Amino acid sequence: MATYIQRLAAMTDRPLELVQADGAALPQRLVPAHIERLKAYQPGRPPRQLMQELGIDRFIHLASNENPMGPPKSALDAMQEAMHGVHRYPESGAFTLRESLADIYRVGVENIAVGSGSESIMANIIRAFLSDTDEVVTSEGTFIGFYVLVNSQGSKLKLVPLKDYHFDLDGIASAITDKTKLVYLCNPNNPTGTIFSRTEFEEFMRKIPEHVLVILDEAYFEYTMGVAEFPDSMTYRYDNVITLRTFSKAYGMAGIRLGYGLGHDYLISFVNKVKLPFEPNMLAQVAGVAALQDTEYLRQALDNNDVGMKIITQEFQRLGIRYIPSHSNFVLVPYGSADRVAALHENLLRQGIAIRPLSAFGLPDCFRVTIGLPDENEAFVKVFRKLA
Ligand SMILES: Cc1ncc(COP(=O)(O)O)c(C=O)c1O
Repeated sequence: MATYIQRLAAMTDRPLELVQADGAALPQRLVPAHIERLKAYQPGRPPRQLMQELGIDRFIHLASNENPMGPPKSALDAMQEAMHGVHRYPESGAFTLRESLADIYRVGVENIAVGSGSESIMANIIRAFLSDTDEVVTSEGTFIGFYVLVNSQGSKLKLVPLKDYHFDLDGIASAITDKTKLVYLCNPNNPTGTIFSRTEFEEFMRKIPEHVLVILDEAYFEYTMGVAEFPDSMTYRYDNVITLRTFSKAYGMAGIRLGYGLGHDYLISFVNKVKLPFEPNMLAQVAGVAALQDTEYLRQALDNNDVGMKIITQEFQRLGIRYIPSHSNFVLVPYGSADRVAALHENLLRQGIAIRPLSAFGLPDCFRVTIGLPDENEAFVKVFRKLA
């Protein structure tokens, strides 16, 4: 006999007769078509399994743009202390964390949304503002998490090609129509590491109608905040822009899932209305407050990144390998073909090193490598030299 799940799965191929309380039949699909079309996330093989298969005791993660230094000790201490209180719900509204952020950015608490990763805030923005007749415009070759969220909402997603691995802001502005509700910009962009400049951004914003909401994803902000031409979105006051930042990258806490959004209180109020009430969790909230004060950790993380970026890119130069100069904690390498990328990926994995092939990002002939610790970068360079 077919299991319940098998029977449910079979139903997704044909209309399902639901019976309403008054007995009338309501023909309906079990799963909406746009959800049926979604491609499931394909995780790589878990490192522990690979390590067992390969008989190695160390795995070098250069695939996910994480900070290799480990979490800040200040955040670990704060979580250790808060752990004794986890039988209680977290502070509702995450006021302490939002107040810390408000102090730093000199805005009101009502201008700040926090969530389980900036991706959760992205999801809440989409939930709050998008209906299925709205269109969304962004670039090809940017953060795929955003595509997945828009597709799962059933809204139309218009993708403008990258221009020499950069966001084409003119192309995006031209793609906007009366139906466009949302534009997503990622600066620096993942996976290219490129930025658009202050002048480009200001010119772009002049063309954007007021009915269009702009998400400015600055997940890698800290790596580029010293660059004069970088348009730090917090130095502008556009009512229709929501900035997203995260503790997952430079702050070294991807696993705790903590991010924040900054914008006009009117917009933020809706984001906060649709969010899950006790998100982010208690440990994430205290870790965030502690990490924000830990400027020494941040300095060390950025130094480590600068040094590692030099080691890896100098090696690419020495080998005559083209790479795209990056303002972030990773580098994109156009590597000729998808087959070459696949072979490199597999060969590096066999040596216990993970990089990221980029076919899922629409860049099948490219890979991305994240900056690691000094000895991890050396290990990558040494193996890459032999394989390239
Ligand atoms: C551009 C960009 N935005 C958002 C995220 C998700 O960040 P978080 O861990 O805060 O959800 C990532 C993670 O890789 C990213 O690269």
